[in-house]
Amino acid sequence: MFYTFNISICNINRGGGVWRDRIEIMDGDITKLDMDAIVNAANNSLMGGGGVDGAIHRAAGPELLEECRRLGGCATGDAKITKGYRLPAQYIIHAVGPVWRGGGQGESRLLASCYKRCFELAKAYGIKTIALPAISTGVYGFPKETAAMIAIKETKDAILEDQAIEKVIFVCFNPDTRKAYESALAEEI
Ligand code: APR
Repeated sequence: MFYTFNISICNINRGGGVWRDRIEIMDGDITKLDMDAIVNAANNSLMGGGGVDGAIHRAAGPELLEECRRLGGCATGDAKITKGYRLPAQYIIHAVGPVWRGGGQGESRLLASCYKRCFELAKAYGIKTIALPAISTGVYGFPKETAAMIAIKETKDAILEDQAIEKVIFVCFNPDTRKAYESALAEEI
């Protein structure tokens, strides 16, 4: 009995249950979410584009582009923060994921870096609730399953490191993405 009890204590100490309780997977449009921050899957110019980038810029309005213009771009694997303007979210974190070129050019490391930078900015700005799209898995062609595993692992590490994070929502825009995130969350111990 003592041995079983011991394992459960260790599990709680390692945040075994805690981190998972703070992650949610949902279908929908990230621009509608009233979170402290939403993450944009941007490009190096930060001057907008298609996909979720286009949706966020359309919903946030022209002031967003004005602020982005002053940021001077963003390196792949990095992220920069702006106000949310007409969005319900207070902030937008613009992360630039890697284009998938077969996996041999550091794509996984760069995608992991995007998530690390998003959570670093969240901590710096006191952001407690954050929603993220499936960065790089659309136009940039990153395999959804691998990308989801990277996203979940980096998020778990961030929650364990910064208990101030209250809620992380992964917003899926298609069934394949949802399936990838649900599998990745189930497999992450
Ligand atoms: N809400 C949530 N997720 C969305 C939305 C939305 N409104 N619109 C699209 N998505 C999803 C896509 O279905 C995909 O799963 O976001 C994920 C990321 O896809 P993209 O937006 O294509 O982003 P990415 O693959 O990172 O490519 C970035 O695309 O739009 C351009 O300017 C952007 O050059 C950059 C590139």
